[in-house]
Amino acid sequence: MMPVLVLLHLAGVIVWVGGMFFAHYCLRPVAAAQLQPAQRLPLLAGVLGRFFGAVEVAVGTILGSGFAMMLVVSFKNALLHWHVMMATGLVMAGVFVYIDAVLYRRLAAAVAAEDWPAGGAAMERIRKLVAFNLHLGIATILIATLGAYFGRGL
Ligand code: HEM
Repeated sequence: MMPVLVLLHLAGVIVWVGGMFFAHYCLRPVAAAQLQPAQRLPLLAGVLGRFFGAVEVAVGTILGSGFAMMLVVSFKNALLHWHVMMATGLVMAGVFVYIDAVLYRRLAAAVAAEDWPAGGAAMERIRKLVAFNLHLGIATILIATLGAYFGRGL
């Protein structure tokens, strides 16, 4: 059972963290340099709408498989770095829910109304929180993998 759960867990992590890396370091800087708000914001709203739909599935899969693995070994036997991963993973999930449910809706509404200043403000907050989650995600991957070098966890 564990290998299947690790596979699902890592598939979700690859989609989520890999997608944030692409959006933050590749797509957004080029869109910002080459496009005016009236072109850039509808493009980013469209791309992020598709990406966030995939991330909803990925986050559900990561949390479901992560908690299932914790239950398989039981929480009291789980290694320290697994508990740290669970804590940082839950922070990331909370930040994503805020981006998806509040900020993305604000961006989509501003784009629909062609209100570019409001859209730009929503996009800037999304950018900062995606950057936060991306770097916390990279730290979580380091903890999840290298934590094993430290005996019973970190
Ligand atoms: C509530 C959230 C989470 C829980 C409960 C959880 C739990 C777990 C557990 C129990 C394992 C198995 C460890 C092993 O067999 O060595 C694991 C593996 C892993 N997790 Fe998580 N996890 C969570 C979120 C995350 C997140 C958000 C990331 C990355 C952004 C992540 C990255 C990884 C990686 C890379 C592994 C593979 C480690 C390895 O096999 O060396 N996890 N997770």
